[in-house]
Amino acid sequence: MADSQDIVVMGVETSCDDTAVAIVRRDADARYHVLANVVWTDHGDHALFGGIVPEIAARSHVERLDWVMEKALREAGIAPGALGGIAATAGPGLVGGVLVGLTAAKAFAMTHETPLIPVNHLEGHALSVRLTDEAPFPFLLLLISGGHSQLILAEGLGRYRRLGVTIDDAAGEAFDKTAKLLGLSQPGGPAIEAAAKTGDATRFRFPAPLARREGCDFSFSGMKTAVRETAIAAAPLSAEDTADIAASFQAAVARHLAAQSRKAMQSLSLAEDQRRFVLAGGVAANTAIKEAVENLCKEEGWRLTVPPPKFCTDNGAMIAVAGAERLAAGLAPQMDEALALAPRARWPLAPPLEGGAIGGGRKGPKA
Ligand code: KG4
Ligand code: ZN
Repeated sequence: MADSQDIVVMGVETSCDDTAVAIVRRDADARYHVLANVVWTDHGDHALFGGIVPEIAARSHVERLDWVMEKALREAGIAPGALGGIAATAGPGLVGGVLVGLTAAKAFAMTHETPLIPVNHLEGHALSVRLTDEAPFPFLLLLISGGHSQLILAEGLGRYRRLGVTIDDAAGEAFDKTAKLLGLSQPGGPAIEAAAKTGDATRFRFPAPLARREGCDFSFSGMKTAVRETAIAAAPLSAEDTADIAASFQAAVARHLAAQSRKAMQSLSLAEDQRRFVLAGGVAANTAIKEAVENLCKEEGWRLTVPPPKFCTDNGAMIAVAGAERLAAGLAPQMDEALALAPRARWPLAPPLEGGAIGGGRKGPKA
C-alpha cells in the first residue's frame, strides 16, 4: 500500500507483562480511530517475587494471547480477513514474551494472508501520540517507561536521533524500586503517585542528578539511594512519612526530567512552529510529571502533546499505529522477510549522537 487509504490494522504487544491487542483504523486523512484496545495485565504472580519474572510473563502471554486477540476482533466487529495488516512488537523487551507475540502474529498473517509488520516497541511509544493528536514530524520526544528514559528527536518515520539516555535506571524502574523500598504495591508508579497525593513534596530535598554535566542524560540511582537513606533514618515510617517521601521523590524525578528536557530544547535550533514536545511511556501517565513538563513548555515556548494515560502505558494501539504508518509509507517488509525476523531483546530506536551510553535499547524486568 503506497498512499493514504483507509486501513484497519491489528497491533500485538507482549514485550513485558501486559498482553495487549488493539485494532485501529487509519483513515484517508491519516487520523486514527481505535476500534478495540484490550490490555490483559497480570501483576498477581509477579508480586510474589517482588518484580516481573520473565518466564511467568511469557507463560501468561501464551495462555492469554489467543483470547485477547479474539476479544479485540469481537469488540471491533472486524473479521480477520478484513484487516489490512497485523503489527507485532519484535523488540526490544523480554525475549520470551516478544517471541510469543511475534509468533502468533506470523501464524495469523500466514493464515489470513495479511501483511505482517514487525514493530520496534519504542517506535510504538513514539507514535502513540498520533492515536489522539496529529503530531507531525519533527518533534522532541521524552520517552519514559519501565525500561527506558530517553530524549529523542523524531525527524521522520524510522528517523530518530537520541539526545539523551539514562546512565543507570529507567524512570519507571526508579518508581518501581522506590515503591518496593517504601512497602508500596507494584507497579510502583501509580502507587507512588497515589501515596504522594497527601504528602508534602517540600519536606525532603532529593538530589538533582547531572545538573552540572553537559548534555541531557538522565540518572536515577542517586535519588533512589537518597530515598533509602531517608527511609532508614526516619524508620519506622508513619503513613505521613511515606506520603512525604513519595511526594518528595516524585517531585525530584519531575524536576530532573524537566531540567534535562530543557537542555535538549535549548540544544536544538528549531523554528517556532517546529517546537513540539511529546511525552510517551508509562511514566508519562504521572500528573506531577505532566505538570512539570507543561510549565517547562510554557517557559521555553514549545507546544506540548501528551497521549491519554491508557496510551502511555504499554498497549496494542501504539503498535498498530506504528504498523499502519509503515504500511501507509510503503515501508512494510515483504512477507518472507517479515516471517524470517527473530525477536530482539535489544533494539535501539535511535543511534546515540555519541557512543557508549548504557541502557540504550534494553528493557529488562521492571523491578
Ligand atoms: O510503558 P510501560 O507500560 O512499560 C514499559 O515499556 O516499560 O511503563 C511501565 C512503567 C512502570 O515502571 C510503572 O511504574 C510506570 O510506567 N508508571 C508510572 C505511572 N503509571 C505507570 N510511573 C509514574 N506515575 C504513574 N502514574
Ligand atoms: Zn513500553
